[in-house]
Amino acid sequence: MIVNTELEQKGNLFPSKFVSFKKDVDTLYFSTDNNVVLQLTVFRDSVLRFRYTTTGTFDNDFSYAITKYASKGYNHLEIVENDEEYHIITSKLLCKIAKENLRIRIYDVKDNTLINEDEIGFHWEESYEYGGNIVKMSKTINDRESYFGLGDKPEHLNLKGKRFENWVTDSYAFGKQTDPIYKAIPFFTGLHHNKAYGIFFDNTFRTYFDFGQERRNVTSFWAQGGEMNYYFIYGPKMNDVVESYTDLTGKPHQLPPLWALGFHQCKWSYYPEANVKEITNKFRELQIPCDAIYLDIDYMDGFRCFTWNKDYFPDPKRMVKELLDDGFKTVAIIDPGIKIDHEYSVFKEALEKDYFCKRADGPYMKGKVWPGECYFPDFTKPEVRDWWSGLFKELVEDIGVQGVWNDMNEPAVMEVPNKTFPDDVRHDYDGNRCSHRKAHNVYGMQMARATYHGMKKFNYPKRPFVITRAAYSGTQRYTSTWTGDNVATWEHLSIANIQAQRMAMSGFSFAGSDIGGFAEQPQGELYTRWIQLGVFHPFCRVHSSGDHGDQEPWAFDDDVTDIVRKFIELRYQLLPYLYTAFWKLIEHGTPLLQSLVLFDQEDQQTHYRTDEFVYGNQILVCPIQEPNAKGRRMYIPRGSWYNFWTDEYVEGGKEKWVDAEIDSMPMFIKEGAIIPKFPVQQYVGEIEIEELALEVYYKLGKEVSELYDDAHDGYDYTKGRYSFRTFKLTGKANELIIQQHKEGKYEASYKTFKLNLHGLPFEIKEIQIDNEIISIENLQVNETLSMVVDKNFAEIHLIGK
Ligand code: NOJ
Repeated sequence: MIVNTELEQKGNLFPSKFVSFKKDVDTLYFSTDNNVVLQLTVFRDSVLRFRYTTTGTFDNDFSYAITKYASKGYNHLEIVENDEEYHIITSKLLCKIAKENLRIRIYDVKDNTLINEDEIGFHWEESYEYGGNIVKMSKTINDRESYFGLGDKPEHLNLKGKRFENWVTDSYAFGKQTDPIYKAIPFFTGLHHNKAYGIFFDNTFRTYFDFGQERRNVTSFWAQGGEMNYYFIYGPKMNDVVESYTDLTGKPHQLPPLWALGFHQCKWSYYPEANVKEITNKFRELQIPCDAIYLDIDYMDGFRCFTWNKDYFPDPKRMVKELLDDGFKTVAIIDPGIKIDHEYSVFKEALEKDYFCKRADGPYMKGKVWPGECYFPDFTKPEVRDWWSGLFKELVEDIGVQGVWNDMNEPAVMEVPNKTFPDDVRHDYDGNRCSHRKAHNVYGMQMARATYHGMKKFNYPKRPFVITRAAYSGTQRYTSTWTGDNVATWEHLSIANIQAQRMAMSGFSFAGSDIGGFAEQPQGELYTRWIQLGVFHPFCRVHSSGDHGDQEPWAFDDDVTDIVRKFIELRYQLLPYLYTAFWKLIEHGTPLLQSLVLFDQEDQQTHYRTDEFVYGNQILVCPIQEPNAKGRRMYIPRGSWYNFWTDEYVEGGKEKWVDAEIDSMPMFIKEGAIIPKFPVQQYVGEIEIEELALEVYYKLGKEVSELYDDAHDGYDYTKGRYSFRTFKLTGKANELIIQQHKEGKYEASYKTFKLNLHGLPFEIKEIQIDNEIISIENLQVNETLSMVVDKNFAEIHLIGK
């Protein structure tokens, strides 16, 4: 039965009277006289897990989403009982549980603000068709509450008033209202009264979220099977919610190799070899930086994964090496469908070893994809994942491919109405055998996981790079992602903008769109504007279906090429800034992009903004999303900012018109920021960096900036060979002070920093570096003031006249 509406459903059942309480270390059990048990685990002072059964006992506790590295432990736990309620008190939260019906109310323990309250709370409906329950939860919407998150939904950033479904779906040319699409990330953040909390509903069945659409004051979520099992995560800052969720479901297991943060060029398909070389040569000839070139399905022999079409690519190893010598890393696509072909070794082996998915009554799950009829490995079985990882030996270790692109892993099946496996397909689910109803949403994740382990093993000592289309919560540990088959329209440019922001606030920052649009072809103007946005997305790749023409930076006219070059160069200059943000992502789970609401939740103006976002934590950007624009109105968040292009100083907290002809886009730097910049390179590692620029933006007051660096690949950084510099800027009316603190053992190739000073309100009379007075002779005076200093300075004072 498909459940379309929630509370309209007849047949809802509810917990009845509370009868007993039990405590087992950090876990509390509340039982009722109709066999409902609420299991409440205090994960951390600000993270509570709620899990319900209706049969008196719980199934095996297993999750693909929760990482074993999730932090656990609290400072305080107190349980108080009165006639009506239990009170669970941690150092952050007070959780009240009503004895009458097990309804929950959660408060900020410090100021008693009600953060989240059950409406009906947990209830369920028995599923006649499949057994078990349709499990449901309803919560009361607070005054002026807003909702954010849920992964890749192509909808307004604020989800209030809308309903969504999570069922990973191949969605060619999806549109603004299409739901569901490629990802299932059942995590949202609620925000009201300046306080943010998150709910992660860790249930892999088809899930639904309704944020006040059905009933204006009720938010509900439910699943077609499995358990009501959710984590409540308190902020009160939205950023803390996202970081805690990311802590639970995992940060990327390692930094990407720096080249993966460069520019990537893709098309369906570049072949034969001569065509690939023509493209890569053109990048070098036109001096447009690029680090990766993709091989889509046509590199294979009859679309058989792990094979090569030897007519098109007679000697892949040589080609991959030649590309690498020219700075191009080759990324190859691998799909889950394995062609039914008894002469094909991958098929034969999987068949022999019984690794393919089967239908309920025994036959194999057979479906059509690019190669024709295929069987599909059951990636939810550990043995199958190991086998799959092993298949990458030749591709990665022998041939030298440095990235693997997992596509069609929803899993997509052609020519069938539901575009995927039927519900009855059986899965191992790591020993918790189940049907596709439960495994569907994690199938792609488990494929990407197996691919990641293969990549990691055979690329060692280099870091792995994987990209996936399908994902469930936690997939960010293994791989990057893109938003699937979008379209070359202005609307899709704005969808891409929202999706990248939403993914970042859903714990999956390493994401980007097919720049320029996958389906159809953009005009040069749209392509240019999309590149301008795309260089600020963590994953930056041009990709297109190729049916409608070319989408390389030179496929339009010379003006387009020049502007595109300029923006890709900017991306390469800002690599140390992005890399530093990535370090904070893997260390703390800090999102790489911050929607304005994440940046300043206290400012109500931000709650319904969608276009502007902060890249890292100090660069504000706003894409132009319309043709013929000479600029646009945008909201500048509170605080003061410098226009990146003109150094104009602007006060935030208001809307503003910002000029942006086609060769520009609205971009602002937070005052007080120190932004590190590399020189332009055609690919990461092309030149030895001799000097790193620091763009210093004066502020009357204080600001802290950071710079992370390491060898840009490999794992030495995990053994302390990295450098992490903190710059404290203090601006006074007549003085600017920069203090540096450094940790880590890594020594970068550059010896000096070139400080470029912006917005200095005084003329410099004296410079002191580490207590020595420096002559100001070598100060260059042009638009900005520049000075070169030893990179290990401790303290610089610029004193005004
Ligand atoms: C669908 C993917 O979304 C697209 O990026 C790819 O080019 C095609 N499959 C062909 O592999």
